[in-house]
Amino acid sequence: MSGATSGGSTPQSLVINEAAQALRDGRLVAFPTETVYGLGADARNPQAIQKVFTTKGRPSNHPLIVHIASPGQIDQAQIDWVSVLAPWARDISEDALKLIQAFWPGPLTLVFKKDKRVLSEITGGQDTVAIRSPAHPIAQELLQQFQGGVVAPSANRFGKVSPTSAADVRSEFEDNADVLVIDGGDCEVGIESTIVDVSNGDRAILLRPGVITPKEILAKTGVQVYSPGEVADTNVHPESLPRVSGSLKAHYAPTTPLRLYAPGRVLDALTEFPDTKSRVAVAVWDSESSLGDDGHPSVQLEEVEVPSDSNAFASRLYRTLRDLDEQGWDLILFPEPPAGEEWDGVRDRLQRACFGSGPSFRSHDSN
Ligand code: TXA
Ligand code: MG
Repeated sequence: MSGATSGGSTPQSLVINEAAQALRDGRLVAFPTETVYGLGADARNPQAIQKVFTTKGRPSNHPLIVHIASPGQIDQAQIDWVSVLAPWARDISEDALKLIQAFWPGPLTLVFKKDKRVLSEITGGQDTVAIRSPAHPIAQELLQQFQGGVVAPSANRFGKVSPTSAADVRSEFEDNADVLVIDGGDCEVGIESTIVDVSNGDRAILLRPGVITPKEILAKTGVQVYSPGEVADTNVHPESLPRVSGSLKAHYAPTTPLRLYAPGRVLDALTEFPDTKSRVAVAVWDSESSLGDDGHPSVQLEEVEVPSDSNAFASRLYRTLRDLDEQGWDLILFPEPPAGEEWDGVRDRLQRACFGSGPSFRSHDSN
């Protein structure tokens, strides 16, 4: 893999120029966003998009997010988003515009009715398209230099933990020389963007929880975002909602078995694993004193502190899972996240990671 880095004597803008050219040439560019690293390709180039699916090992009916630049306006309220989105999306509602004004650029993806020019390779054949404008300055500069839309799923192999550093990306695609990696340091948000479907006109629906919560959206815009469950008994049926690959039961998964434990119930979580499991890493809240001498004769427990603030937890989640996965534990235990909407994003990722974890699990088989 040729790794473009921002260090050394190469100014970052040259690296970004080179990356924009690589996108024009139909190559893949992994770049940092504020959420996780994305594996980018020209959204108007079917062959490049095909490469994204084969490189990730992702089924080709799973739709991709189109990333677009945010016009460099001093006054965000002056941006004509309907025109900016016109090459990609149509029927943009007033509510959708409020969400854009409040949260773009940022970790919010919106699903719109698609423009006819959007390639069906991106949408999995659906009539909607997912779009976001990422807040990371390198992502913005790349998109501005490229002057087009860039499809970018998380830069990990299908079903695995999303990368939050350039080194993570390189370890995912070690054997692939055709991926240019821009190193932008560690991702701040740490879990993928919140996805809200606004294609339906009158009701915004949460498709994937993230650090931007329905509560925050309501507070900042007055727009109510419904969960798919809430709309089930109205005129929208969940089965008519678009497919979200992050909604597979197993996803974001480490190779080491991972389980959640209820407060004070570490030993209960161990009973599922007979005493051959001897090396266990236990994540504990940094706000709490350690597990104490809650010993078990045949198990060596090692504690790892995790933040008790939800945003800080999200920021470190994939880093911690990757690091623990590499350390050769027999089992990883995480505390169940507390109730509350601000924990929904990490709870969702942790539950799927548990379901898909373990050496022999094949995430393709599950849904
Ligand atoms: O934070 C993020 O969103 C990251 C960074 C790189 O931007 N990207 C990301 O992409 O998470 P990916 O491909 O791993 O997840 C995109 C999600 C998938 O679950 C996909 O099914 C959903 O977006 N999606 C894409 N197009 C859609 C559509 N038209 N309708 C519903 N869901 C869609
Ligand atoms: Mg992903």
